[in-house]
Amino acid sequence: MRDPAPALRDHLFDPSGGLTYQLRAFRYRRSLWSAFHATVAGWLGDWQPNARTLVIIGPNAGHALPAGFLERFEQVIALEPDPIARHLLARRPDARRLRFDHLDCLATPDGLAWLAARFSDAAFLFSNVLGQVAAPADSWSALLARHLQERNWASYHDVLSTTRAPDHHAPVRDAASVSLEALIAHFWTQGEITVTDHDTLHLGGGSPCGYAVWPITPARWQLVEWVVNQA
Ligand SMILES: C[S@@+](CC[C@H](N)C(=O)[O-])C[C@H]1O[C@@H](n2cnc3c(N)ncnc32)[C@H](O)[C@@H]1O
Repeated sequence: MRDPAPALRDHLFDPSGGLTYQLRAFRYRRSLWSAFHATVAGWLGDWQPNARTLVIIGPNAGHALPAGFLERFEQVIALEPDPIARHLLARRPDARRLRFDHLDCLATPDGLAWLAARFSDAAFLFSNVLGQVAAPADSWSALLARHLQERNWASYHDVLSTTRAPDHHAPVRDAASVSLEALIAHFWTQGEITVTDHDTLHLGGGSPCGYAVWPITPARWQLVEWVVNQA
């Protein structure tokens, strides 16, 4: 690993966070986003990693984290470059054991190795970030397999985005090795659609995955994957 460790820089105008995301969250989190957040709450409720410390990568203000989630762990560490999001996250009622760290584990090929070494007893939650940030080498799937295979981690992340509303909304549970084409055909049953592929399908190798659709705005939909790696 190169020294020093890659450090997070504050960003307010990044497309994957920043002010635009904050404004969207305040506008939609109790309406357009609430069904997706209920699905995320179910995924997180089922995830019981054997760890006292949780590191959350990209929590933003915790808009998608159910009330009380942060209190399930003795210590919670957040890696979040948006200063407004950090301020809001720290004000959550369940954030009494929260602290922030400045490691940027997503910017360099050795970032996940730094993550594993700096937090040697922790479980990791990648909170809708791996589909937003391009992998700095190979793919996220290869980097996760290389550096975090022996660790407890979970991720929900965008797999694709599109402007067409899905025809079918119910989440998919425990799908193993399903293809992108089959997923598209499951949620969009009426004809062809144009998608942006985020190159994040099956981040956990062969582990079973969950899938749900998320209207990030009334005009843009994301297909989100949930995957768990058990050490
Ligand atoms: C799409 S938002 C998801 C926010 C939140 N987890 C949710 O589910 O609503 C992606 C988040 O990742 C954060 N982010 C971007 N680059 C990051 C990095 N290198 N390390 C950690 N977080 C990052 C952004 O600031 C933003 O808060």
